[in-house]
Amino acid sequence: MKQQADLLITNARQICTIPTHNGGPQRGHALGDLGLIEHGAVAIRDGLIAATGTTAAIESTYTATKVIDAAGRLITPGLVDPHTHLVWAGDRAAEFERRIAGATYQEIMAEGGGIAHTTRATRAASLDELIRAALPRLDTALAHGTTTIEIKSGYGLETAAEIKMLDAIVALASKRPVRIVPTFLGAHAFPAEYIDDPDGYVWLVVEEMLPAVAAWRAERWPGDLFCDVFCETGAFSLAQTRRILQAAQQMGLKLKIHVDEFDNLGGARLGVELGAVSLDHLDVTSDEEIALIGGSDTVAVSLPTTPFGLGASHYPPAHKLLDAGAILALATDCNPGPAWTENMQFVLALATRYHRLTPAQALVACTLNAAWAVNMGRYVGSLQPGYVADLVIWEPGDYRELGYHFGVNLVEQVIIGGQIVHPEGVIFQN
Ligand code: NIG
Ligand code: FE
Repeated sequence: MKQQADLLITNARQICTIPTHNGGPQRGHALGDLGLIEHGAVAIRDGLIAATGTTAAIESTYTATKVIDAAGRLITPGLVDPHTHLVWAGDRAAEFERRIAGATYQEIMAEGGGIAHTTRATRAASLDELIRAALPRLDTALAHGTTTIEIKSGYGLETAAEIKMLDAIVALASKRPVRIVPTFLGAHAFPAEYIDDPDGYVWLVVEEMLPAVAAWRAERWPGDLFCDVFCETGAFSLAQTRRILQAAQQMGLKLKIHVDEFDNLGGARLGVELGAVSLDHLDVTSDEEIALIGGSDTVAVSLPTTPFGLGASHYPPAHKLLDAGAILALATDCNPGPAWTENMQFVLALATRYHRLTPAQALVACTLNAAWAVNMGRYVGSLQPGYVADLVIWEPGDYRELGYHFGVNLVEQVIIGGQIVHPEGVIFQN
């Protein structure tokens, strides 16, 4: 007798199952193991992957009430975007124009633009306005194949406005079936009122914001909560970063750090020492620190959209990270400054060209390894049996078209937890 499934997806030309390695991510040059099945099918039960195999094998083993004919298309796990600043208010188009004319990101930041600009608008926005502004961005991410997304606060920079941002992030999670990971980034920049008292702001983050965030979490968010710091010249020093992250860790938050985007302050070494889940940017990380990351379980998240968005030519040293044995992941960094894209397919296009990752390596870095960057790699990012049934049916049949054919949306259907969420759009709330 055949086994019962809820949903079968049959007749895929290729399925990239993205196997775990020893139950974990794909490290170093082992990156790019697709677990490719030709003429494949997927069986889904209770929102989880029950089995993958050839269509002939799955059809002879399973029966289901609902069957989707993938008709020669490609199936991969849903994309995971482990670093975004998706919630913001206001508009920085004028800054883009200035940067194109030659102003640098740091110059604009020093003049009170950049993050400070977005902070003024975000403080002034109501919770509802923030949610309304972010929802279309989340829908764009979903429509482009993102099924799990990390979203940071960090444009409030005062306790109430940071909590308002976390409330907006949680509200998004209730309105869309996408899996959301919240991050507290109170240490994103010094707000105008603390420009002359940076240590006073660090005190506020540690003594007022973090306790408020811990209380918020106890009431509002049962899952993981991350704490991130922008460790950078003009933002938070190494000592300030350490103080904030150690306090956050004591409160049970998991750690991420923005490190080495412009200057190397030693944040990567600190992140490895503290057991951060991920270190993000890594544009100017030293060889010594790359070796440390490679020997650790901290995920290296490259954000090629940032140099691209800044019109820069220096990209993070992805191959050195692989040589060192690091766990490499990719993300959009979606934000209103240098990197406004919700589209992980565009990240794949950049990573193949500027990191010289093969399409297979880039795909794993956008799925399984990205799930590890948000501590979800045990159940998200692969199509192994028991993993959540989050997957994308792509219009092309060959995985190498991801990244190769760029600037257009190649998604045909998005499925989360075994439910079609795009384009049909069930279980959406306004
Ligand atoms: O990751 N580097 C700090 N934060 C963002 C930029 C945020 C902004 O400019 O609004 C980033 O690049
Ligand atoms: Fe960022």
